[in-house]
Amino acid sequence: MSDRRRNVRNSGPELTSGMIVLIIFAAAAILLTVYFICNIEYSPSEGTETDELTSAGSTDSAADNGTTGSSAETDPEGEEYISVSVSNSEIYSGYMVLVNYQYAFNFDYAEATVSLYHNEDKSDSYSLASSSISCAASVLEYLNEFLDAYAEATGDDGAIINSAARTYEEQVSIMEEYTELYGEDYANAYVAVPGYSEHHTGYAFDIASIGENYDSLWLIENCWRYGFVQRYQAGKEAITQISYEYWHYRYVGAPHAEIMMTTNLCHEEYVDMLRDYTYESPYEFTSSADGTVYVLYFVAASSENTEETTEIPIPSDALEYKIEGNNVDGFVVTVSYGSDTENSDVADTAAAGYEESETNE
Ligand code: DAL
Ligand code: ZN
Repeated sequence: MSDRRRNVRNSGPELTSGMIVLIIFAAAAILLTVYFICNIEYSPSEGTETDELTSAGSTDSAADNGTTGSSAETDPEGEEYISVSVSNSEIYSGYMVLVNYQYAFNFDYAEATVSLYHNEDKSDSYSLASSSISCAASVLEYLNEFLDAYAEATGDDGAIINSAARTYEEQVSIMEEYTELYGEDYANAYVAVPGYSEHHTGYAFDIASIGENYDSLWLIENCWRYGFVQRYQAGKEAITQISYEYWHYRYVGAPHAEIMMTTNLCHEEYVDMLRDYTYESPYEFTSSADGTVYVLYFVAASSENTEETTEIPIPSDALEYKIEGNNVDGFVVTVSYGSDTENSDVADTAAAGYEESETNE
């Protein structure tokens, strides 16, 4: 062996058995440290969970909330409830926000939007009138479900989204264009004053369908099954201050869409109606689509100060609940007790009717 190779082999210290044991201990210590750091980072902390629970529009279960520190209390009827603390700023968030000629949209609480153009999450069952169509990120999947069902039921995959989320500036130019083309009266009948359009929410869609009659009967009759309402109905013009728009659909979610469409209440009337229901005396509703039992009630914001919070009681036995702002004065609380389909003939019949209408229409 040459001197050179011998020198290379002997250039480092030789490993003794003591050193090997030391290296194994060091490696084990490093692995343990990494393990503990990862666990601390990925365990849901109380703070994280509370943030999620208190945001308007979120859905959660009372049982989950109980595990994060909110202790159950007992109401005068002897029923257990938990108290959820919600920031008053949350009255501007959630699918129930009422945006109309009286109540402007609060852009500070706008949901992030997504472009539908070349969006791989967009279903192929409908088209876009332009490459600039976007909507609130969370409702794209509901729009897909709605228009997939429409295409399947009617055989028409030619529905077109003419307009969805709009900025303040876009609403200004639409108002200017309509005023110039058709005059001020017509523009005011069909175009909301900039800042007061529910297109600002990202939850509204102007849908043109050519495969059916003028009014797209299937869309009107079935929109609620997918969480949508036809927002500006004939006969409600005095309340909405907008003329009949058969094309304008707004996502409000379950069970609101079903209640509004089946009891013929526009958004203004529904928000007013719910104000009459309290935690102690709630509005009770069973969905005819799947038998889910709901109770709904209104909780007024504690003040107009968005730095303050409102305490919202939730029954401890709720399976799920959501708290949504109404953009006016408080919160719509929706508590779900799950489906009674297995135990209810009514729900069974309703569910069967739903399946039938889906396949036959
Ligand atoms: N066309 C509806 C009313 C809007 O402009 O928001
Ligand atoms: Zn519209």
